[in-house]
Amino acid sequence: PYPNLAPTPPMGWNNWSYYMCDINEKVILDNARALVRTGLARRGYRTVTVDDCWMTKQRGPDGELVADPVKFPHGMAYVGRQLHAMGLKFGIYEDVGTATCGKFPGSLGHFRQDAEQFARWKVDYLKADGCHVPVPAGQTKEQAYREAYGKMSRALTATGRPITFSVSAPAYFQYSGDSVWHQVIDWSARLGNLWRGGADIATREQDPAAKWSSIVYNFDYNAKLAPLQRPGRWNDPDFLLTGDPGLTADETRSQMSLWSMMAAPLISSTDLTRIGATARRALGNRDVIAVDQDPLGVQGRIVAQGDGFTVLSKPLKNGDRAVALFNSGDSRRTLATTAAAAGLPPAASYRLRELVTGRTTSAGRDIVAKDVPPHATVLYRITARRPARR
Ligand code: DGJ
Repeated sequence: PYPNLAPTPPMGWNNWSYYMCDINEKVILDNARALVRTGLARRGYRTVTVDDCWMTKQRGPDGELVADPVKFPHGMAYVGRQLHAMGLKFGIYEDVGTATCGKFPGSLGHFRQDAEQFARWKVDYLKADGCHVPVPAGQTKEQAYREAYGKMSRALTATGRPITFSVSAPAYFQYSGDSVWHQVIDWSARLGNLWRGGADIATREQDPAAKWSSIVYNFDYNAKLAPLQRPGRWNDPDFLLTGDPGLTADETRSQMSLWSMMAAPLISSTDLTRIGATARRALGNRDVIAVDQDPLGVQGRIVAQGDGFTVLSKPLKNGDRAVALFNSGDSRRTLATTAAAAGLPPAASYRLRELVTGRTTSAGRDIVAKDVPPHATVLYRITARRPARR
C-alpha cells in the first residue's frame, strides 16, 4: 500500500454495528459532528467510514458507482467535503468480489475505475470487504482472494492519493494456523494497513449477551495473532461497541482496554449523538488511547490465561509496560502476575498507574489487582523505579 499511512492503529467511527444499511447523509454527518463536539475527534477518532449500502443496485452508464440518491442526495464527494471541513477523514466501503454483502455492485472487473472514483471523491480510507469473491475453476479460494485484494491495493496506490487500505480477507478464512491461513495474513499485511479477523462484532439488534460474547470471541481470536502484527500493520478485531446500552460500564471499559492492549484500530460504531457520559469517558480516556497509539507499535501478548481470566503485557516506547488483568468470569476475583512474567526489568519496586481510575500505587515483584468485578479489566501502566542511590 501507500507507505506510512498508519504508523499507529487507525481511529474513527463507522456506522455498521448501530445503523447497518439504515444510513443516510444526515446519520453520517450528525455522527461526524458528534465526534467533534464530544472532543473525541481531538483525541484521535478522525476517520468516518460509510459502510455497506450507500450505492444504487446498478452501476451508472459508464460503469461508475452511483450513490443512492435518496440516502445521499448530494452524492459522496459532498459527504467527503463536509467531513474534511470538520477536520475529519473520509472512509468508504466496497467489496473486491462481484457484489457487497448487501448485494450492491462489487469492484471485481472495475478496480481501476473504482479506485480513481474514490480518489476523485477525496476518499482517505477504504474498507474492502470480501463477500461474493468467485473462485474460477483451477484456482484455490486463497488465490482468488489474493488476486482480488492485490488488484484493489495496486489500483489504490496507482491513484497517487494516500488511501488507508483495510483488508477483510482473513475474516473469510477461519483460523486454522495452517499454511494457507498464514499466507492470507501474510499478503493481507503486505497489501493493506490493517486486516479484519475473527467474526463480526454484534450489531444493535442482537441481545446484550450476544454483544458481550462477540467481544470476548474477537478478543480471544485476535490476541493469538500478536506474533503476526508488525509496527504500521494492524490486526483488526472489529468495532468498539462502547456506548451501546446493552453493555455494562465494566464491559464497555474492558473492550476499550483490551483493544488498546492489542494495538487494535479504535473504530467506534454506535450512535454518538446520544452517547452517555460513561461511554464517552471510556472512549476518550487519554491514558488508555496512549497505550493503543504508543509509537513502538507492538501488539500486547498474553502472559497468562486460565479459566475466566487473561493477563496481557504490551511493551511501550518509553520502557514502561502496559499490563491488563481481565476477569472474563462471572464472579469477582483477585488477579495477579509478576513483574518478571510481564517482561519488566528487575527493580526494587514498580510504580503502577491504573489507567481507568487514574490511581497510582507501588508494588514489589507481585502485580496484583484485587477484587476485579466480573467482565472488568484492570489496566496498569508500570514503570520500573531506579534503585535508590546511597
Ligand atoms: C461484513 C463486514 O464484516 C461488516 O463489518 C460489514 O461491513 C458488512 N459486511 C456489510 O455488509
